[in-house]
Parts: sequence; structure tokens; C-alpha cells
Amino acid sequence: MPVAVPIHQTDSTVYWSEKMNEFEPAIIAFVCNWCTFTAADLAGTSRLVYPPNIRLIRVMCTGMVDPKYVIKAFLEGADAVLISGCHPGDCHYINGNLKARRRVKLLKEILPRFGFDEKRLRLTWIGASEGVDFARTVKELVEEIKAIGPGEARGQMVL
Ligand code: FES
Repeated sequence: MPVAVPIHQTDSTVYWSEKMNEFEPAIIAFVCNWCTFTAADLAGTSRLVYPPNIRLIRVMCTGMVDPKYVIKAFLEGADAVLISGCHPGDCHYINGNLKARRRVKLLKEILPRFGFDEKRLRLTWIGASEGVDFARTVKELVEEIKAIGPGEARGQMVL
């Protein structure tokens, strides 16, 4: 059974996870209010099971996710960041998700300069009725990040 790990790791929680011989990623997810947040809610009300490693931050549109938020999350110890919003053509603010897509592309180029693996950043489109997709995405992301290992800044106070 996965163990919830706080985003701000303390030495004792890191030690405890290592002692259990099981790395549990801490994932920050910026999710659009109109689609992915609703999908997460649907997954919950549908009693779908997915790992508790994700911390949702609800935003009105993925277009408002400033790249600084992503970098700050990594610097403060996140093992992965997920940005998830409406499918292209469905954004409530016309093209916010397309702006997010451009920013993620640039972030993936910049992250290695900060020492972070670009595979730790993921962009997905999950509509309001796609609770199953939300649960599956979280499961897959957790497995992939477990395979990559802990974030480069985990357990360190970089800022
Ligand atoms: S309103 Fe959902 S991504 Fe823009």
C-alpha cells in the first residue's frame, strides 16, 4: 500500500521511506478547475483507487501556470510536476491550454539547466468526465517517477 509522503521532506521521513525500502514520490499537480479537477473529483466519487502521492493545486486554467511555479515546486522537493487541463479546443479561456503546452515545451528545455530531469514534468489533457483517465495517469506517473528515483532537490532546502 503506497505511503503518503509530505512534499517538505524531513530527514526522518526520508529515512523512514528508505528504511521501508520503498521510494514514494511527492507529485505536485496543477489542474484546471473546469476539467481535470472535476475528473479528479469524479475519480473520487466513483471510488477509483489511485496512489495518494499527488497534491492537487486547482487553477482556473492551465494557461495561468507560471513556469516559476513549476521550478519552485522542483526546488522545494517535488519529485514530479503534473500540469493537466482541458483538451485542445475545449479551454474555457480559448487558448490557455495551448499557452501551457508552449511553456511546458520550453520548461523541458530549461529544467536540465537547473539539474532536473525533464521527464519529471508532464502535461496531460483530462476532461471532466474522464475520471478513469485521471486515475490511470496518476498511477502511470507514480510508477515512472519511482523508476527514475527521487527528485534532485529532495531533502535539500535549495531556496
Ligand atoms: S480552462 Fe481548462 S485548460 Fe483552460
